[in-house]
Formats: sequence, C-alpha cells, structure tokens
Amino acid sequence: MRLLVLGGTAFLGRAVARTAHAAGHDVTCLARGESGGAVDGVRFVTGDRDRPDGLSAVDGETFDAVFDVTLRPSHARHAAAALAGRVGHYSFVSTCNVYPDDATPGQRADTAKLHDPAPPEVDNPRDGQMEMYGPCKVSCENAIRDGIGADRVFILRAGLIVGPEDRSDRFPYWVARMRRGGEVLAPGSPNDSVSFVDVDDLADWVLLAGRTGLVGAFDGMGPAMPRSRFLTELRDALAPPGTTLTWVDQEFLVEQDVRPWSGERALPLWLPLPEYAGFMTRDVTRSVEAGLPARPIADTALRTAHWMESTPQDVKAGGLAERDEAFVLREWHTRSA
Ligand SMILES: NC(=O)c1ccc[n+]([C@@H]2O[C@H](COP(=O)([O-])OP(=O)(O)OC[C@H]3O[C@@H](n4cnc5c(N)ncnc54)[C@H](OP(=O)(O)O)[C@@H]3O)[C@@H](O)[C@H]2O)c1
Repeated sequence: MRLLVLGGTAFLGRAVARTAHAAGHDVTCLARGESGGAVDGVRFVTGDRDRPDGLSAVDGETFDAVFDVTLRPSHARHAAAALAGRVGHYSFVSTCNVYPDDATPGQRADTAKLHDPAPPEVDNPRDGQMEMYGPCKVSCENAIRDGIGADRVFILRAGLIVGPEDRSDRFPYWVARMRRGGEVLAPGSPNDSVSFVDVDDLADWVLLAGRTGLVGAFDGMGPAMPRSRFLTELRDALAPPGTTLTWVDQEFLVEQDVRPWSGERALPLWLPLPEYAGFMTRDVTRSVEAGLPARPIADTALRTAHWMESTPQDVKAGGLAERDEAFVLREWHTRSA
C-alpha cells in the first residue's frame, strides 16, 4: 500500500508510519519537521499546511491511503481539495471531544450528538481557544468527508491515547508513580470507569482500515474497565513488591485541592463524577467489531516505562508531586481514624 501520513513527526503519526513501514508499505510523511523527526526508513517531505499549497511536495502523486491528524479546519479543507481524486482511502483522527455530552454513559459514535462546527473565524484552538478543539475537529471531519467522499473516509474519534512517545503528563504519571512504589493514592472509587487506547493498537487499526476500506465514524478507545483493574494491573507490571493502593474519596480530594486529569496537583485519568460519567464509558462495541485491538495493560505499561526510562528528557513532569501525595494520604488516614 502507498500511504501518505500528514504528520508523522509526533506520537500517533510516528506510530502509524513505523507500523506501516515495518509491514512493508511504502510510506511518505509530510510535515514541517518542527515536532520531531520521521521514523527511520520512510520518505519524509517538507510541507507547511498553514499555506494553501502546503501539500505541493506530493503534487501529482497517488496514494492508496492517507492518514491525517490535523485540528485546523483550513488544513483539512486544503488537504481535501489537493488530494481529491488521488487517494483510495482517507483516515482522519478526530477526538471524543466532538461530543458535547460528557455525562451520559454508554453513548455510541453512530448516534451521539456532535458539537456544531467551529465558526469560520476560528481555525486554531491552540491559539488560546481550546474550548473550540471539539468544534474544530467537527469542521475537519466535515471538510474531509465533503472533499474526499464519505465512501472513502474513516473517522476515528480517539479517546485518551497512551503508550511510548506520549509527551503528556497523563498515563506517564501512573507509570512513574507505580515504578516508585510504596503507598499509592488511588483516586475515587475502585468501580469508577477508566478507558484509553494504546497508540500502537490505533496504528494497527488505521492500517487495517486502509487495507480493507473501512469507512464511517468510530470511537478510537478501548472498552471501559474499573479503575481498580487499571491500577492493579499497572502495579503488578511495574511496581516493586509491597506496593499498595489506598482509595481516597473524590470529595476529600477536592477538599485537598487535588485536581483531575492533568497538570499541577492532578491525578490523571480521574475526572469529577457525575459530570464526566460519560467520558470514559462509551459503548465501543462497533469499534471492537470493526477490528480495534486492545493489548494487555501490562504490555502498554512496560513499553511506556521503557520509553520513559530510555529518553527521560522527553517525559513531561506533572501530576501530584510525591510530597503532596504523602501529605494528602496522611490527612486521609487521620480523618479516617
Ligand atoms: N493524545 C491524545 O490523548 C489524543 C486524544 C484524542 C485525540 N487526539 C488526536 O490524535 C492526534 C494525535 O496526533 P499525533 O500524535 O500524530 O500528532 P500531534 O502531536 O497532534 O502532532 C501534529 C502533527 O501534525 C504536524 N503538523 C502540525 N502543524 C503542521 C503544519 N502547519 N504543516 C504540516 N504539518 C503540521 C506535526 O508535524 P510538524 O510540527 O513537524 O510540522 C505533527 O506531526 C491528533 O489529531 C489529536 O487531536 C489525541
């Protein structure tokens, strides 16, 4: 297969390029080269998609499949115009942030309501408008479907993507925390749901979609699991013997200014309930039936730990600091005594 990766210099794009190259496909990556390098062995061409002619480096070429991660509607419009009629299949990575309802569990990609598209004057959510991220991805989805043709377009709405080269402070927080061992603060209740998707599982699925012509909109996230399973399997894969989990109520964490999801004082993969009860509990049956794989948590944990330990300079610090976690645990034990 001749594959064009629009991106390919960061996390998911690199995983798709690496997986495709390893499987013997002919891979071209097009990007500016600002986020990083392309994987060894693939063809890399320079292009700046902020310019309407940003894809001119591949003018006149045909591709069996395209893979695109942009969040800017103008990028999607230009790519659809430039590539229409020259591509067999187009995978576009969108996000579960296209759904406005974060509270209702069990929603499905084929029936859930979407945000309205972004207004025309909004083109880059990273310009201080991250609340426009979901609407911009809706606009991108529409532009690619309209320009390429719905019968060729696979929309993959990713949930939390985890694995090697994840430069966020989310899943890597838990990997580092389990490696340290001791008494681990486990947020909320053991039965709260958690869901995520391994970057290499998504890459495998994208290639399968390209080869088989899978089209339509699907959620790209694994089935929900209880947080107790997530943390126990991570601990068993990564932590020194004797590591324990102490479950601390959401209300107490809020009182102690422990914050959800990511950033300073955050416990990643923890979100306030019931406001976010739908965010990590989507019904992904269609995605699993359409071939989305899910490798064991231990596999994701060990590959991520290996990446973090071999390139520590690329790992983003964040989350609840060691001394703050110890303080909250002491207060919790005092309160519970
Ligand atoms: N991480 C998550 O948990 C998560 C969750 C849901 C959805 N997603 C979605 O998943 C995707 C992740 O993609 P990713 O990890 O491969 O990439 P990414 O970190 O979003 O990087 C964007 C890619 O696009 C390229 N790019 C950006 N601006 C460009 C421009 N003006 N011209 C040409 N290329 C440009 C970058 O390369 P250069 O900078 O080198 O040009 C880079 O390769 C995104 O669509 C994101 O919205 C992520």
